[in-house]
Amino acid sequence: MTILQKTFKQKNDIIPIWFMRQAGRYLPEYMEVRKNFSDFLELCYNSKKAAEITIQPITRFEFDSAIIFSDILVLPHALGWKVVFEKGEGPVLQKFESDKDLRILDKKFDKKINNIYDTVSIVRKSLDKNKSLIGFAGSPWTVVSYMLEGKGKQDFSVSKNFLYTRRNLSLQLIDIITDKTVEYLSGQIDAGVDVIQLFDSWSGVLSGEEYEDFVIKPTKKIINSIKGKYPEIPIIGFPRCSGYLYQEYIDKTNIDAIGVDQFVPIHIMKKWQEKIVVQGNLDPFVLFSNKDVIERKANNILSELGNKNFIFNLGHGIMPNTPIENVEFLVNYVRNYKK
Ligand code: CP3
Repeated sequence: MTILQKTFKQKNDIIPIWFMRQAGRYLPEYMEVRKNFSDFLELCYNSKKAAEITIQPITRFEFDSAIIFSDILVLPHALGWKVVFEKGEGPVLQKFESDKDLRILDKKFDKKINNIYDTVSIVRKSLDKNKSLIGFAGSPWTVVSYMLEGKGKQDFSVSKNFLYTRRNLSLQLIDIITDKTVEYLSGQIDAGVDVIQLFDSWSGVLSGEEYEDFVIKPTKKIINSIKGKYPEIPIIGFPRCSGYLYQEYIDKTNIDAIGVDQFVPIHIMKKWQEKIVVQGNLDPFVLFSNKDVIERKANNILSELGNKNFIFNLGHGIMPNTPIENVEFLVNYVRNYKK
């Protein structure tokens, strides 16, 4: 059993720690590899380099889990959807506009998806057998929001209006992406990941019926399908900025663990912890402060949640330019924490 799997079986005597976006731009060794690739997606599909990057933060900080170096937008890209990452712009995508576009998506993955699965097998071979390896996908709504907006810097006016005015088409689109996500996650599990995380970075912009139909239902469908085939694989859901709707997400989706952003109070997480594993939720910006602040903020979390059913993480991905020595300090603090 890997460290995270032990947490899910209440068999851990340590507090596991890993960070979202732990392999990335705050690491000089990442920038060193990155500079040889003008195209970010090309790096994601380069199994050897992606595996090397996946391991970098484990070597440096001895995190308890690695997360495959890739991106949530690999999924539409590998279905033939146009996605490019422009320097300083983030992702730019072909815009989904009509039912004709469904035909592009409703077909087999390009064979380059196998490169992602190869990354998984390479990493699994070189990773210490106690360490977990997390596979991931974007949740359908988050992926679809990029396809509807056509870009990364968005205010959701296009995508939300699309859901309101073209409901049937939106449901069909979500359904295709949901089924493809199940296939993609199954491929990662077959290749060797032992935990899954679903990133719903933009769940927090939806409410009411739309939250139910475009966040809860597709998530539930993914979980049921994966659980049906792989009952031993824990799934972490991260419905970022869901506020009050976190509770509904927990109650209705059957998720094994809940990734929590920094806007949820710790006493609420403590309540959830009685039922499921909670993961989070230090504000990533705390890592730009100093050791006293980091210690105080980490202690607030650890003193309340650090017994069982807990995975230490940030409330969102670690930021570029985060000082490395602060990351090191935080990891050591969590490692040596005793109540
Ligand atoms: O966590 C990890 O270390 C694994 C790799 C990973 C990346 N992206 C690498 C990446 C993971 C799990 C993601 C998830 C992801 N990608 C999300 C969900 C999590 C979140 O942050 O909310 C989203 C919304 C994306 C889409 C995405 N990818 C955007 C909007 C951008 C551009 C903005 C940005 O942060 O630069 C990316 C690029 C990206 N994904 C980078 C990395 C390391 C930076 C690319 C570079 O090196 O130029």
